[in-house]
Amino acid sequence: MREEWRTQTGFVLATIGSAVGLGNIWRFSYVAGESGGGAFLAIYLVFVVLIGLPLMIAEFALGRRGGGDVVQAFSAASPRWRGAGWLLAAGALVILSYYTVIAGWVLKYLAGALSGTLWTAAQTGYGAYFARFIANTGEPVLWQAAILLIAMLVVAGGVRRGIERLNMWLMPLLAVIVVLLALFALTLPGAGAGVRFLLAPDWSVFARPDVYVAAIGQAFFSLGVGMAVMITYASYMGRQFRIPVSATAIVGGDTLFAVVAGLAIFPAVFALGGNPAAGPELAFITLPQIFLNMPFGSVVAPVFFFLLAAAALTSMVSLLEVPVAVAVHRLALGRRRATLLAGGLVFLLGLPSALSYGLLADVTLAGQPILDAVDRAVSSMLLPLGGLLVALCVGWAANRAVVVAEADLPDAALARLWVWLLRVPVPLLLVVVFLRAVGAI
Ligand code: PHE
Repeated sequence: MREEWRTQTGFVLATIGSAVGLGNIWRFSYVAGESGGGAFLAIYLVFVVLIGLPLMIAEFALGRRGGGDVVQAFSAASPRWRGAGWLLAAGALVILSYYTVIAGWVLKYLAGALSGTLWTAAQTGYGAYFARFIANTGEPVLWQAAILLIAMLVVAGGVRRGIERLNMWLMPLLAVIVVLLALFALTLPGAGAGVRFLLAPDWSVFARPDVYVAAIGQAFFSLGVGMAVMITYASYMGRQFRIPVSATAIVGGDTLFAVVAGLAIFPAVFALGGNPAAGPELAFITLPQIFLNMPFGSVVAPVFFFLLAAAALTSMVSLLEVPVAVAVHRLALGRRRATLLAGGLVFLLGLPSALSYGLLADVTLAGQPILDAVDRAVSSMLLPLGGLLVALCVGWAANRAVVVAEADLPDAALARLWVWLLRVPVPLLLVVVFLRAVGAI
């Protein structure tokens, strides 16, 4: 018999576990920091409701209806859409390949914060420490392999015994940790400036088109829509689970998590004179420096990096489940073999990213180091493209009555609004983002 989630809570927590990840903490804080804070947050929230929520519901409906892997989900909706399933499964492998590398860095920082080597590194400055670490050949690969192995063990354990069990205890714990970190950061003298930065919009930012593109990309990345994860997780969802309730809880939970993480990070950055627009290095260079100078920093640092590592792990698990489910269904492999195959592929695909500041430092794609280029391509091209395919398939190709019944929205007007959003505004916005990302407009 096909495995199913044990409880709706288990399903919601596993899905929040997928949504909450590096995206909410590392990526949200650096993108919000670069994009002007409050105004970015306002635009982000609009996109989350307008695009994120309808797509999340669409992925759930598609996945539960299909009752198998992502390829089956698309072909059940419309046989001609089978290829979209393969594309999204390949996309999940690509995301996972570089996501694992960054998660590996976090694991390294966690180990350093626990053992204390992170503090002795301060003598040369964290910029140099980080640069030395990622310029290494062996070390980033080692940490990449380590965290990937943990994710593989969880996925090999199965939907209930592996994935659901991990998220059932880890996600509530992470929620407590992030709230405690925020409460602590808010007590730092000068924290108010950080709160204002995140919550009070600077109106001039609304005139910057790049902020809108960044906000859509971030919404996709953080919610984890457009990459078949929600489709795959929904395929293990029982008939009795309510899709709209789950989707709203997940979208709300993910967004709240990002805001609270922002309330932990920006007050600390402002209180200790860091630069909120430091970019991707915010978590790896700016924050350690802040921890060093902060009261109780030696406690806060390991707690923070544990939060980041654990959040990354639950997202990795969800991304890995996508190709594993495909291998189980399409290649008739057992779950363990499927996990080995998918994990091995992810490792190999991730090597260029892991080595992109070391052995392969001279190789650039579109003028950027490999990892940065992949991150860019994923958030502004691959995820919007995945979202576009889901919106078009559910909105236009699938049988309308069937998807509306599956999505189970509380009334007919909402169902009409949902289908209309998927048909017109969502695809239009995504096409604009895509064209802009490839430089056509
Ligand atoms: N949502 C995850 C995060 O915020 C990343 C992710 C992307 C997970 C795409 C699944 C699919 O880090």
